[in-house]
Amino acid sequence: MNLIDIIETKKLGKQLSPEQIAFFANQAASSKSLDYQLAALLMAIRLNGMSIEETTALTIAMAKTGDILSPDVDGVAVDKHSTGGVGDTTTLILVPLVAACGGRVVKMSGRGLGHTGGTIDKMESIPGMRVELSEEEMMDNVRRIGCCVVGQTGDLVPADKRLYALRDVTSTVDSIPLIASSIMSKKIAGGAEAIVLDVKLGAGAMMKTLDDCVELAQTMVGIGAGIGREVVAFITGMEEPLGSHVGNALEVKDAIDVLAGRTEGPLLEVSLRLGEQMLILSGLAKDEEDAHHQLVSALNEGRGLKKFKEMIAAQGGNPAVCDNISLLPQAKYTKEVLCPVDGYILSVDAQAIGEAARQLGAGRTRKDDILDLSVGLVMHRRIGDRVRKGDPLATIYHNDEQKAASAQSSLLDAVKIGKEQPPKAKLIYGRITKNNTEIYP
Ligand code: URA
Repeated sequence: MNLIDIIETKKLGKQLSPEQIAFFANQAASSKSLDYQLAALLMAIRLNGMSIEETTALTIAMAKTGDILSPDVDGVAVDKHSTGGVGDTTTLILVPLVAACGGRVVKMSGRGLGHTGGTIDKMESIPGMRVELSEEEMMDNVRRIGCCVVGQTGDLVPADKRLYALRDVTSTVDSIPLIASSIMSKKIAGGAEAIVLDVKLGAGAMMKTLDDCVELAQTMVGIGAGIGREVVAFITGMEEPLGSHVGNALEVKDAIDVLAGRTEGPLLEVSLRLGEQMLILSGLAKDEEDAHHQLVSALNEGRGLKKFKEMIAAQGGNPAVCDNISLLPQAKYTKEVLCPVDGYILSVDAQAIGEAARQLGAGRTRKDDILDLSVGLVMHRRIGDRVRKGDPLATIYHNDEQKAASAQSSLLDAVKIGKEQPPKAKLIYGRITKNNTEIYP
C-alpha cells in the first residue's frame, strides 16, 4: 500500500477502505512520510468528503497512533472542545470554574488553526507555563486541584499533531471529517468519559451554515456514542468575535477579566452554558439551573480565579499574571481605529478579524512560524451598537507599523456600519445529544 494510491482513490471521490485509512493515519504519525503527500490527501478529503464510516475509522485509527490514557482522577474525567473561533477563550474561563465546583477537567487543547486562535498558544503567553505534561503529572494535578489544560505530548495522537499543523497552512481546515476526526481522536486518547463540544457557526467559524454545524455535531456525538463516551454538543454563534480581545496574551487577559468579575457578556454566557453541561455530565449538578447557580457562585466568590492561579502554578507558570496583567507579553505600540461614520454596527466579519490578528503575528502562515504572543486587537463595539464618527472602534496592539496599517484596513473592511439597528447576533442555536437534535427558535 502507498499514499499515492490512496490519494488517487480519494481524488476520484471513492470510499477509502479501513486498511487504507489505518495506513494514512500511521503515515501521518511517521516522520518518514512526506508533508506534500499528506497535504494532497488532506485536500482530496476536503474536496470529496468522507462517509460516516470512513470518518469513524479515521478517528479511531488516529487515536491509536499514540497512547490512550485512562484517567484516574477520583471522579468523572470531563473535557470540552470547540471547533474554533475568534476571541473564543471559553476554555480558560470554564475549566477553572468547573474545577472550582468539584469537576475533574482533563482538557486537551490545540494550537491556533487557520484564522482561529488556539488555547495552547494562549497559555504559552503566561510566563513559565508548561503545556506538555507527562500522564502522571496531568493526573496528579487533576486529583490535587481539579484541572489541567495540556497540548498533545509526542505520545498523544501524533497523527493529529502532524495533520493539524499541515491543515493550518494548506486551507484544509474547514472539512467535517477532518475536524470531527481531529477533535474526537484527541478526546478518545485523553480518556475523557464525558465531553462537551462547542460547534461554532457563522462568519468566524469553520462551519458557515446551520446544516453543516448539525452534521458536524451529529458526527462527533455519534462517534462518541459508538465508543461509550457521553457527548453533548452545542451550536453557538461566531458571527463576530466572542470576546472583545483577539490575540494570545490579550485573550488570557480577557479570561482573567471575566474570572475577576470585571467583564460580562457573550464570552461569559457561552462559558457558563458549556460549563453547566460539564457539571451535569460529571454528576455534580441535577439540572441546568443547579449547575448555573454553582458556577455563578464560584465566579462571584472569586473561586474560579483562585483555581486558575492554582492551575497556572501547577503547570510552572507565574500566577501573579492574574493580579498584574502587565506580566503578560506586551506589544510595544497601540493604534486606535475610529468609526468612520455615524450609525449602527451591522456586522463584524469575525474571520477577517482573525486574519488581521494572524497578519499581526498572532497566528501562523507557515507550519514553523514563531508567534508574537503580545499582538492582536481589542474590539470596542459589537453588532447592534450605536456609534458616532470618531468613536473608538478597536485598538490594535502591534510591534510593526506596516502590519498594523494593514490590520487597520482589514478591520475597517470587516466592520459594516448602517442606518438601521440590526438584531443582536444570536448566541446559542441548539443542542445535540445521542438521542436528540434540538434547534432553538
Ligand atoms: N479543533 C481541533 O482540535 N481540530 C480541528 O480540526 C478543529 C478544532
